[in-house]
Amino acid sequence: MNPDLVAKATEAREKALAPYSGFRVGAAIETRDGRVYTGCNIENASYGLSICAERVALWKALSEGAREFRAMAIVSEADTLTSPCGACRQLLWEYCGDITIHLHSLKGLDRNHRLTELFPFPFDSSSIEFS
Ligand code: THU
Repeated sequence: MNPDLVAKATEAREKALAPYSGFRVGAAIETRDGRVYTGCNIENASYGLSICAERVALWKALSEGAREFRAMAIVSEADTLTSPCGACRQLLWEYCGDITIHLHSLKGLDRNHRLTELFPFPFDSSSIEFS
């Protein structure tokens, strides 16, 4: 558990725009050299264009030039820990590799995973072979 990263994800969660689900999520991603980028989930009236907190944090980091990552914290207030959705797992794997994922619920639950535990046997650039 990285308490600072969890604290930053908790703060980011306060900014969630989740009027449709009421489910507020915060994320914070840390680069290998210690920079942190945060995100919250942002929903919209068409529902389908909503974006997860994890992707907001990742896009912010990538768009600022960050390329090497070591960890992400994901915070909700659910009774069970909020684990990243399939789409976010794919993108985290492709852009971050086998980072540590800190899951935290404000109800007092904590768990750490490697991304490879959450996303085994991925499809990625190494899967595309041309002969
Ligand atoms: N959500 C996230 O932001 N991250 C997750 O890991 C799971 C789900 C958001 C998407 C949507 O705004 C709301 O939570 C309910 O699914």
